[in-house]
Amino acid sequence: MSNDQEFIPLSVPYIAGNEWKYVKDCLDTGWVSSVGSYVNQFEEDFAQVTKTSHAVACVNGTAALHIALVTCGVKPGDQVLVSNLTFIASANSISHAGATPVFIDAEPDYWQIDPAEIESYLRNECQFINGETIHKSTGQRVKAIMPVHILGNPVNMDPILTLAKEFNLAVIEDATESLGATYKGHPVGSLGDMAAFSFNGNKLITTGGGGMITTNNPELAQKAKHLTTTAKIEPIEFIHDEIGYNYRLVNLLAAVGVAQLEQLPEFLAKKQEITSWYTELLSDHPGIQLMPEPPYGTSARWLYTIRLLNNNWKSINEFLAGKKIQTRPLWQPMHLSPAYRTLNSRKCPISELLQNRCLSLPCSVNLSKSQAEQVAAQLKLAVNQVK
Ligand SMILES: Cc1ncc(COP(=O)(O)O)c(C=O)c1O
Repeated sequence: MSNDQEFIPLSVPYIAGNEWKYVKDCLDTGWVSSVGSYVNQFEEDFAQVTKTSHAVACVNGTAALHIALVTCGVKPGDQVLVSNLTFIASANSISHAGATPVFIDAEPDYWQIDPAEIESYLRNECQFINGETIHKSTGQRVKAIMPVHILGNPVNMDPILTLAKEFNLAVIEDATESLGATYKGHPVGSLGDMAAFSFNGNKLITTGGGGMITTNNPELAQKAKHLTTTAKIEPIEFIHDEIGYNYRLVNLLAAVGVAQLEQLPEFLAKKQEITSWYTELLSDHPGIQLMPEPPYGTSARWLYTIRLLNNNWKSINEFLAGKKIQTRPLWQPMHLSPAYRTLNSRKCPISELLQNRCLSLPCSVNLSKSQAEQVAAQLKLAVNQVK
């Protein structure tokens, strides 16, 4: 490979549809702010894609999660069970609601939150009294579960939904990374009480920054919209019935979202094609385990992540960076994060193992086959040479 090798990024936006046209329309008409037809259209189109009855646009995915928690009745002092192997925003949204995240380890097969660990926590460390689940040692109420569908894969939801029913818990899906994935034929984001999506720059579709709440419950949808728009009940005199939030997505960004969503089928097909390239190029290597797709659903293949069987991610990441190939490890597991070190966390050995070994490879929608071939060739070289 020569030194003038082009840089191959991990995952960059693909802006090739009606984005310019719709943004120009906003600018030409002056409808740039928090009211406008694109916000409504983005919500309607998004509800259709996720097969939900309602969608509420938000400034970002973290805000969407925060509002979903508050809307589902999570109060300061409550506990919320959440994936330990996730981007910190999942946990932060729980903290923003004044609640305490309880970090649940991943399962080893598909790297998602482990329903058996949730069950063990609820049965062994909590008791069910008068319709509420109470954590025995702290006395805190457990109010919700937030399964995070990480990397484009779906969580195994049925056991979680069954436990939630038994222990009277809300289920808020963090679907920020998995738009387009399905669980037993149903889109992620349509399975729990509420769900949140993100449209930041590296997500499958982007609005620069943005988020969406989805739900099949009209009352929860109405409450969520109310809270995102400062809880205003009377527009002339500015009367607000509670302390709300200024979390509404602006029309200008929703215009980008409408255009991006139009291209979703194309983006998902491209992610499948990239997956088939890497499968073909890497599956014969004994040191690389390909990203597994669970039998209970379909993956959106948002990020293409491999597990190294004999190497830690860091040396391989450095080797590839030297070849102008950008790769990324998984997130520091939440139970090890300095931000959450004060919590008396449960042991999470699977998250630690996966974080040491997993690496996400370039998989932008516009990745070419020859770029995938370069990535695969250099990756194999690195795995063979670097210890
Ligand atoms: C798992 C997860 N949760 C929450 C978020 C928060 O989304 P946002 O960056 O739009 O606030 C992200 C993405 O950034 C994420 O990957």
